[in-house]
Amino acid sequence: MLFIVLGGPAITRREFFLSQTVLSAAIRAHQGHPTGHGTQPLPNLLDPDHLTPFVDPLPIPQTAVAAGQRRSPDKSGVNLPYYRIAIREFTAKVHHDLPATRFWGYGGSVPGPTIEARSGQGVLIEWPNELPLKHFLAIDHNLMGADATNPAVRTVVHLHGAKAPPLSDGYPESWYTPGKSAVYHYPNEQESAQLWYHDHAMGINRLNIYAGMLGLYTIRDSTEDALDLPKGKYEIPLVLFDRFLTPQGQLYYPVSSRPEAPWVPEVFGDAILLNGKLLPYLEVEPCAYRFRILNGSNARFYHLSFANGLAFSQIGSDSGLLTAPVATKILSMAPAERCDIVVDFSAHAGDRFILRNDILDIMQIRVTRASTVKSAALPKTLRPVPKLDESSAVRTRILTLDEVDDLLDEPVTHLLNATRWHDPVTEKPVIDTTEIWSLVNLTDDAHPIHLHLVRFQILDRRNFDQTLYRYKKTLRYTGPAMPPEPGEAGWKDTVRADPGMVTRIIIHFSGYTGRYVWHCHILEHEDNEMMRPYEVVAAT
Ligand code: C2O
Ligand code: CU
Ligand code: CU
Repeated sequence: MLFIVLGGPAITRREFFLSQTVLSAAIRAHQGHPTGHGTQPLPNLLDPDHLTPFVDPLPIPQTAVAAGQRRSPDKSGVNLPYYRIAIREFTAKVHHDLPATRFWGYGGSVPGPTIEARSGQGVLIEWPNELPLKHFLAIDHNLMGADATNPAVRTVVHLHGAKAPPLSDGYPESWYTPGKSAVYHYPNEQESAQLWYHDHAMGINRLNIYAGMLGLYTIRDSTEDALDLPKGKYEIPLVLFDRFLTPQGQLYYPVSSRPEAPWVPEVFGDAILLNGKLLPYLEVEPCAYRFRILNGSNARFYHLSFANGLAFSQIGSDSGLLTAPVATKILSMAPAERCDIVVDFSAHAGDRFILRNDILDIMQIRVTRASTVKSAALPKTLRPVPKLDESSAVRTRILTLDEVDDLLDEPVTHLLNATRWHDPVTEKPVIDTTEIWSLVNLTDDAHPIHLHLVRFQILDRRNFDQTLYRYKKTLRYTGPAMPPEPGEAGWKDTVRADPGMVTRIIIHFSGYTGRYVWHCHILEHEDNEMMRPYEVVAAT
């Protein structure tokens, strides 16, 4: 990203946003793509720069409270905590000076209530659909599963990062309509990690999540407890998502220039919300804090840093703790990725400074003069992450990421391995075996690829000859294998597959047999064929 190095002269958010759009158009033009087709020009929208920044404190999502106990559906038959989190319409203020915004979400807030779970202790959650009957964002009926014959308002919940049985995983076609409900069982037979739940309804997932359907789910365990990391009010979730807002503060989702086919290939809003607030401030004490960060955006990648250059430690990635803290000053996060960091403010008593994305302000930090606690030192090591051995893999799959363009070179769809959702299932790993998936990116974009059910490790990324692969299906590497960055060298469930590169991941399939999905987590891509079923099968 070119703009990080500028740093100096003031540039407005809108100018920056436009410059990014123009820049990507220029890159596309340079690559022989004509510019500016496809997306309808934006209407008159709210310019976040015209709002007074840092007037609202950062909200912290409520913790969900169990409504009682119910019998587990599995053979144990024990009683489990039972939660009921309704999906409904509500309004919430994203900024002090704006009217309340209409959202659709979980339990009446966005992010929804956080579920606090313990490793090895299952929970049941009922997710009633109490939404209205008409959608407030434009559905594209040409997309798979979004036919006009289907009800407009449909939802199904997926717990991203969970090792959940197939019937509780939120299969995209298992949606249900207003008035209906589903009870899901989350066994939590997995290590401590920051998970998140969100909508997964076929063909309208991008609209439902944009409308507010996301929340956090935290699994803890005794290994993590023993590390004595900052906790309670010193542990703060940060859920990031970008939106466009109308001057009246309402959500605006861009549409194409064709009313009968409103899908657009990506959405990058210029209003970046943290825990549902625009330009909030956070008051902290001069001591150590743990931040659990989620990129919950439809398509935006973030590069987060503190404007005063404050260094911090990354201690965890998507699916749990890293082996040891990684010192850094900048975090890059693709859609759906999570980062667990510890920031020590003790040398900054009385300071005010900015958390920013590239060069744009997103939150102000206000450090108080004195702290009521003394932070424990960050442990030198956190948790072993045993390397999955390449030689243990029973199979390597070469899987392409493809872009299909129209006559103007605008993407009409993206595919996985040149297959569509309704093609027969081709990925059928055997339970309790290990595989290597080589993601061959034949497009011009980075795609965050996510697999349900499993956690995996990144082996490497490597440049290859795209032209040769396109015409001859021959894989010829043109550069050295690059290991994952230190902050992604632990357990992952979402991996950035960079353009022009082969990204290799190693996956051990365990837990359950049955039907799951893998997909790009750019939600516009996922909704338009960049998602495939896969099936974990029993050993024969
Ligand atoms: Cu974040 Cu298929 O999920
Ligand atoms: Cu998932
Ligand atoms: Cu994608």
